[in-house]
Amino acid sequence: MKDRIEEYLREVESFKADGHEKLEEFRIKFLSKKGLIPGLFADFKNVAAEERKEMGQFINKLKNEVQEKIVNLKDQLDSSSESTSSGLDLSLPAHGPMGTRHPLSIVRNDIIDIFARIGFTVSEGPEIEDDFHNFTALNFPEDHPARDMQDTFFIEKDPDIALRTHTSSVQVRVMETTQPPIRTISPGRVFRNEAISARAHCIFHQVEGLYVDENVSFADLKQTLFYFAKELFGEETETRFRPSYFPFTEPSAEMDVSCNICGGKGCNVCKYTGWVEILGCGMVDPNVLESCNIDSKKYTGFAFGMGIERITMLKYQINDLRLFFENDLKFLDQFKSSY
Ligand code: PHE
Repeated sequence: MKDRIEEYLREVESFKADGHEKLEEFRIKFLSKKGLIPGLFADFKNVAAEERKEMGQFINKLKNEVQEKIVNLKDQLDSSSESTSSGLDLSLPAHGPMGTRHPLSIVRNDIIDIFARIGFTVSEGPEIEDDFHNFTALNFPEDHPARDMQDTFFIEKDPDIALRTHTSSVQVRVMETTQPPIRTISPGRVFRNEAISARAHCIFHQVEGLYVDENVSFADLKQTLFYFAKELFGEETETRFRPSYFPFTEPSAEMDVSCNICGGKGCNVCKYTGWVEILGCGMVDPNVLESCNIDSKKYTGFAFGMGIERITMLKYQINDLRLFFENDLKFLDQFKSSY
């Protein structure tokens, strides 16, 4: 028996495990109920009385060696698996998207969704425009101040090529190529030669809309924009229309919504009036339809245009428009949960 135990001791000493499975096999071989050590204890009863003490100690030594070996090897295996994968657990769920959507993109997508639900498509067009699409087709008189160098970034003179000052130019392009019914919105970047301040920038974003069909009325315009305001700012929102002027619409109006911050009671955002202006609108001037080869006797239409920056400032209570262009992560991170 002594020889057997000595052989086992040598085996234990030289044993190496390259994985947890090997180590478990080793444990089963020595320690399980039918393993070698319980086997030795079973044979112990046949040992002569005078040898019992020594033999008992010998078997216990083997048992201790085996247990110690298992603990040490297990520690080794655990720490080496940690270092090879540099502590990364690849089975953990991912953290979700790393970046955040820009607040202007969030609001632009909201606006597109709201109009898509009532049948408006999205149209896009070039940022560099000719005079016809940006001004002439939209009934701007030759000497209109908006054509002036102060408002428009011209790229070339005669023929005039400029950065578009509004996305109404896209609607001209749609009307040129499509006969009514037309129901479309055009989101996009626009450019005006203005001093940069908390309330103005030389680059900003618009969504303009156009609906042309038979019998389109001012009531349709009001109802569409009323629906839009409630969807965007909430069910309680009220609207009002004030007369205004744009060369391409007649009659023209500006739409105010009840202040979404104070609910109309008066605060510094609405300058204590309870109302904030969000868009310009009106019935498309027949001259514009004719410039685009649409029969103005048969068809009427309405148009509207709004600045995304202004609406985003109202929605999220942002008081400086320049924040949208500065890429400050502290500002942008706040929109993580929005989508
Ligand atoms: N194009 C106008 C602007 O940029 C907005 C507008 C669009 C007004 C359509 C009326 C109708 O200010």
